[in-house]
Amino acid sequence: MAEIQKKPVKIVETGLRDAHQSLMATRMTTEQMLPIIDTMDKVGYYAVECWGGATFDACLRFLKEDPWDRLRKLKAGFKNTRLQMLFRGQNILGYNHYADDVVEYFVQKSVANGIDVIRIFDCLNDLRNLQTAVKAANKEKAEVQIALSYTLGDAYTLDYWKDIAKRIEDMGANSICIKDMAGLLVPYAAQELVTALKESTTLDIDLHTHYTSGVASMTYLKAVEAGCDRIDTAISPLALGTSQPATEVMVETLKGTPYDTGLSQDILADIADYFTPIREEAIKSGLLNTKVLGVNIKTLRYQVPGGMLSNLVSQLKEAGREDLYREVLEEIPRVRKDFGEPPLVTPSSQIVGTQAVMNVIAGERYKLVPKESKKIMLGEFGQTVKPFNPEVQKKIIGDETPITCRPADLIPPQLPQFEKECAQWKQQDEDVLSYALFPKVAEEFFKYREAQQTRVDSTVADVADKAYPV
Ligand code: CO
Repeated sequence: MAEIQKKPVKIVETGLRDAHQSLMATRMTTEQMLPIIDTMDKVGYYAVECWGGATFDACLRFLKEDPWDRLRKLKAGFKNTRLQMLFRGQNILGYNHYADDVVEYFVQKSVANGIDVIRIFDCLNDLRNLQTAVKAANKEKAEVQIALSYTLGDAYTLDYWKDIAKRIEDMGANSICIKDMAGLLVPYAAQELVTALKESTTLDIDLHTHYTSGVASMTYLKAVEAGCDRIDTAISPLALGTSQPATEVMVETLKGTPYDTGLSQDILADIADYFTPIREEAIKSGLLNTKVLGVNIKTLRYQVPGGMLSNLVSQLKEAGREDLYREVLEEIPRVRKDFGEPPLVTPSSQIVGTQAVMNVIAGERYKLVPKESKKIMLGEFGQTVKPFNPEVQKKIIGDETPITCRPADLIPPQLPQFEKECAQWKQQDEDVLSYALFPKVAEEFFKYREAQQTRVDSTVADVADKAYPV
């Protein structure tokens, strides 16, 4: 009998980034991560996703930590495991488009401080918004992974995905990620999608999904059977709910099959033991709301990401109009159509959601228009897969002329100005990048850092005084 060809599935562990971002408001500290890194380094993960996404902002804003320092510490501990980050194309880790010089410098410093795999995506899947980051990451010899923001809709046929995968390969990516941030990808659709992508690209395919709608581990299984090369999972205490499927469960499921990951359940158990009290503590303090651990079937019914639903509820609550919830849910797909049917992921999810709320509250569509809606209609986020509704566009932008070029082509270099503005706080090259992304938050962090250092200095002086009385 011919031996079945082995094709071990590669595991990307998300415990140090997406999992705590999804379950615990990105509040895991570096101190909580460091003691388990040695053990994690022995597992044989393909990569550990540990940086980027919201972690950068959360470090500076809430944890009063230097994200660059976190990265260096992680790098020092992970001697055998690739470190992976999530990078939002021309938005980097922020919410605006930045000039190319900022994007290039950010990529360069990320790799210099320890990142091996850069996962780059754009909320509109406009590949022009990825060009600069991809080129820069190639130059730094990082693994470049381009992520497709997965979504459903008339425009998103298998041919659409096949075509974009081909273009991604041509752009110089080393691997492709299907990024299903909302948990919309159901098992048999995943099988079809991966099969189709495998026809158009030879690149490794990584599937990233969330457990939100309850189908995720079945989705992984069907995707693996169709040839998916990597899956993103989280160690069990940080898994399920709005996070990823559990690492141990997928490892056990695939054991003894041609897809056997080869990872040791003993080592994974040690890691799970380590994170269990952290989870329990987070539940006790309310940081981890047990509500997000259940199955949110609304995600599948309305095709709206879970995070967007909860934003919606709080926006309506603020306006004292929670009674409009259902109407807003029905308005979302209409706004999305008017806006060229974009995937719903930061920042397009917020823009479409907020516009839907305003349309319903005002009782007239597009009477109230936030400036982000106008920016999207002006082409300032890039090109959507379908054209905008021309009447809606006219109502929102009036006589202004929308742009059709890559938005960053219109942004002159920004680094010199950022350097000038943060010069007084600067202690390392990377500080200018923290400042570029989050000027106010970074400035506050810089001040805090200085105050801490002054305190430490005087403590040292005190101790020295006592030790060597003069
Ligand atoms: Co995710």
